[in-house]
Amino acid sequence: MRWAVRGAFVWVLIMSVVASAWAVPLPAPQTEGGMGLFEALRKRASAPGGDFPTGRLAPEELSSVLWAATGLNRGDKGWTVPMAMGLPPYCKIYVAKEDGVFLYDWQGNGLTEISGEDIRGKVGAQNFVRAASCILIVVSDGSGLSEFQEPERTIFAYVAAGAMTQDVYLAAASLGLGARYIHSMKEDEIRASLSLAPGDNPLCLMLLGK
Ligand SMILES: Cc1cc2nc3c(=O)[nH]c(=O)nc-3n(C[C@H](O)[C@H](O)[C@H](O)COP(=O)(O)O)c2cc1C
Repeated sequence: MRWAVRGAFVWVLIMSVVASAWAVPLPAPQTEGGMGLFEALRKRASAPGGDFPTGRLAPEELSSVLWAATGLNRGDKGWTVPMAMGLPPYCKIYVAKEDGVFLYDWQGNGLTEISGEDIRGKVGAQNFVRAASCILIVVSDGSGLSEFQEPERTIFAYVAAGAMTQDVYLAAASLGLGARYIHSMKEDEIRASLSLAPGDNPLCLMLLGK
């Protein structure tokens, strides 16, 4: 029995070490100050695809953009974007960068590493997409949407993706970053690279750079 308890303890220890190895904390996002909303609305624009800025975002900038997209803004149950029935965000954001692909964890304000592969050259149907230093891949979460039937399931996912990407545009304008919404993507490549579950669907890309 003692051996069983010891074995379980070692297993939990190993799993927590493995989990923490994949967790990448983000600095606290900017949640106040900055450019006023109406100025950000006036500046909101897509950076040109053919000349997309290739500079890397600082971790603080990435954290702030992700928080704008789907971060908590009221205690532990309230987000920057509205979700049907107040459900937790049912669209996930994957972050593709030079050093790998990560899943945004809005609860822990961090990134979870999915793989160390640079997939930026695989996900877009247009050549310039690969030049972005950071690509957000918005994916509907089949299990998070399981309360809904079609067509609401798809509609609600796209409504959320629209709200999230508009928040990204506004945060990018406020921070002086380049951003561009992209629908033309290679869905099969994304599915394979992210090992998506059958009910999860890639919805759009959001390019970021500076
Ligand atoms: C639904 C939607 C799909 C889009 N898909 C693409 C795309 O696949 N490739 C691209 O380069 N831009 C894409 N864009 C960006 C638009 O071309 C861009 O928003 C448009 O030219 C207007 O420019 P603005 O965002 O600066 O106002 C898309 C935008 C939207 C809203």
